[in-house]
Amino acid sequence: MVNVHDAPPLEVDGLVKRYGRALAVDGLSFRVSAGEIVGLVGPNGAGKTTVMRCCVGILRPSAGSVRVGGHDSVAAPSEARRQMAFVPELPSLYPLLTVAEQIEFIARSYGPLAADFAERREALLRRFDLWPQRAKLTDSLSKGMRQKTALVAAFLHGARVILLDEPLIGVDPAGIRQLKDLLLEARAGGAAIVVSTHLLDTAERLCDRILVLQAGRKRAEGSLADLRAAAEGFGDATLEEVFMELTKE
Ligand SMILES: Nc1ncnc2c1ncn2[C@@H]1O[C@H](COP(=O)(O)OP(=O)(O)OP(=O)(O)O)[C@@H](O)[C@H]1O
Ligand SMILES: [Mg+2]
Repeated sequence: MVNVHDAPPLEVDGLVKRYGRALAVDGLSFRVSAGEIVGLVGPNGAGKTTVMRCCVGILRPSAGSVRVGGHDSVAAPSEARRQMAFVPELPSLYPLLTVAEQIEFIARSYGPLAADFAERREALLRRFDLWPQRAKLTDSLSKGMRQKTALVAAFLHGARVILLDEPLIGVDPAGIRQLKDLLLEARAGGAAIVVSTHLLDTAERLCDRILVLQAGRKRAEGSLADLRAAAEGFGDATLEEVFMELTKE
């Protein structure tokens, strides 16, 4: 019996995901500790989105397991989900909800609203320059505004595990700075964070640890120094150079 209080925030163990006969994730294991930002990088089709969708319980693993704070994502989905926040690659918003309503809707899907919900929502909307848009229908938002709306909802409830799939795409420089600050604040508050990205310079600067995924398998994992060691002869290379070496055919 796992003591859920001692369990790591996120534990992926031997995860396999098949779409029909196609193998998208092939026996992946990793853990994320409290106060850690892990970068999930890998070529298009490597399985990053699939891993995140399994972690959050949208997809059921074909084999292996995901535990969130000790709660199995299949056996105890609502306990697992309550501790997480997830922003997908292309957040789907309800066109006829206002920005403020959409954020409340997402927040309620994770569990009961906190007493200070309205204040927190306002503070986050202001940080992302979305406060003037709060009463607009989401249908009328620009791409970056849609992304920021989903990000506000993700940072609202103090989630123990935060999963962001390509969160920087479409967000303006001021928004990117806010997002980075929010990630660092969440990390300081003990959140376990996974960010998938193709922006390797950002991953290099922001993440405590990088997990390189290729064809559904872990190619390398660790600090930039660890990855350099994994790519022999890349002693002082950038993450981009190491990535190219590790993922070349
Ligand atoms: N709904 C689906 N049905 C069938 N195959 C899928 C489905 N979703 C993903 N795949 C396949 O699973 C593999 C992994 O896809 P996934 O979207 O997880 O990759 P990714 O690393 O997120 O890629 P990208 O960098 O392009 O976002 C790919 O081969 C993809 O074609
Ligand atoms: Mg993806």
